[in-house]
Parts: sequence; structure tokens; C-alpha cells
Amino acid sequence: MTHPTWPLYDLRVRTPRLELRYIDDALAVELALLAAQGIHEPDFMPFSIPWTQEPSPALERNTMQFYWRCRAETTATHWSINLATLVDGVVVGTTGMMAEQFPTLRVFETGSWLGRAHQGKGIGKEMRLATLHLGFLGLDAEVATTGAWHDNGPSLGVTNSLGYTPVGHRRMVRLGESSTLRGYEMLRDDFVARLRRDDVALHGIEGTRDVLGLDTPST
Ligand SMILES: CC(C)(COP(=O)(O)OP(=O)(O)OC[C@H]1O[C@@H](n2cnc3c(N)ncnc32)[C@H](O)[C@@H]1OP(=O)(O)O)[C@@H](O)C(=O)NCCC(=O)NCCS
Repeated sequence: MTHPTWPLYDLRVRTPRLELRYIDDALAVELALLAAQGIHEPDFMPFSIPWTQEPSPALERNTMQFYWRCRAETTATHWSINLATLVDGVVVGTTGMMAEQFPTLRVFETGSWLGRAHQGKGIGKEMRLATLHLGFLGLDAEVATTGAWHDNGPSLGVTNSLGYTPVGHRRMVRLGESSTLRGYEMLRDDFVARLRRDDVALHGIEGTRDVLGLDTPST
């Protein structure tokens, strides 16, 4: 049964280990509560926007507003698609895809986080791979980009382990100080040749492509 008005609610990616589901209000609540339990050490900021510094309950409310805003502002030329990551039916974190002018540029950026209890178990790598599968094979992207602070070992670990190409770095302000953000990209042909798996299933792609102003699926 497909959603009658907002097809993105049907979007899912399944791998043998996890499921990604487009974030509706119920999943947003679960993620807000998970974020409030902590994503990182208090003295380390992994994000370029330090949203996790906000104390509870503002953190949870801001998180809800972020997901509402992303849904509300979705157009073909500007979107953030946020997916909850579930393992055995439990919400463990989230992975997101952001794009500008996607029908023309075919480039998307990824970002993600997991609740602390779920980190360091290979889930981050699997959910990045699932996100790349959605972008390249579901939405016909040509380039995926990502970035992380120079000292974010686990995030860089996921990126390096999947074989992204470094594309430079930028000095940026991080909590009032200068820091270095490293950038990476992966091309569609590289993904298809090295990482494509036949045990990843997409659901709700046709409606998603329609909302995003893309042609009907090519495969
Ligand atoms: C970043 C994050 C999503 C990664 O997910 P994860 O499940 O913890 O990572 P994984 O267990 O899948 O590890 C992936 C790879 O990174 C490697 N890795 C993990 N920690 C590492 C470290 N400190 N230094 C170098 N490599 C590291 C792992 O060995 C693994 O590589 P392999 O498969 O080749 O062995 C998760 O740690 C997280 O949510 N961190 C806090 C929020 C955050 O930093 N978000 C990203 C902002 S850019």
C-alpha cells in the first residue's frame, strides 16, 4: 500500500543487517530521544553544525524541527532526505542525503550518526553503503560526496574503508577555533564496479523519483 499524498514515506532500503526508513514523525521522536542520550564525548564535536551542544529538552525539539523543516522544504532542486536506521526493528541512528539542483548535477552529499551504544560495530559502514546504493542505483546519481573533521576517526574510517577519493580539505571554524574538514567523493562507475551488492533492496523508489522530479526508473 503506497502513501496517498507523500510518497517519500514509502522510501526504504533493506540490507541483511539493517533497514533505512524515511523519517516520519514517529521515527523523528525516536531519533530525538536517542540523540538526547548522547552521540559523542562532550569534549569532541563531530558535526560541522554543533547541534548536539544544546541541552535537553531543546535538543529534542530542535531535532523534531530539523526533520519537519527538511520534509517541508523538499523540492526537485533542493532536498535533504533523512532516513532512520533500524537494526532488528530498533532505531539506532540516521543517515541523510542532501542535494542541490540534483536533476542537473546528479551529486549528493551524505551525513550520519549513530547512538553511542551502536557505534563501532560496522553499522556505520553498512548504512553508508545502503545510502550510496539508494543514491546511485535508486536515484541515478553520478557523484556522492562526504566530509569529516580531520580527527573524526570512525567517520573517516567508514569513508576510507569504502574507498572514496580524497578531494581536498578546508579550514573551517569549529567551536570557535580553526579546524580542518576533509572532503571525499565517489563516482557511480566506481560504486557499481566495486561495491554494488545484490542483497540490498529498494522500496518506494518510483514515488520518490516523482517527488524529486526524476524520470521513471532506468532499471
Ligand atoms: C561515524 C559513525 C556513523 C561511524 O559508524 P560506526 O558504526 O561507528 O563505524 P563502523 O563500525 O562501521 O566502522 C567503519 C570503519 O571505520 C574504522 N574505524 C572505526 N574507528 C576508527 C578510528 N578511530 N580510526 C580509524 N578507523 C576507524 C573501522 O575499523 C571500520 O573500518 P573497516 O570496516 O575497514 O574495519 C559513528 O561512529 C557515529 O555516529 N559517530 C558520531 C557521529 C559522527 O561522527 N557522525 C559523522 C559526522 S561527519
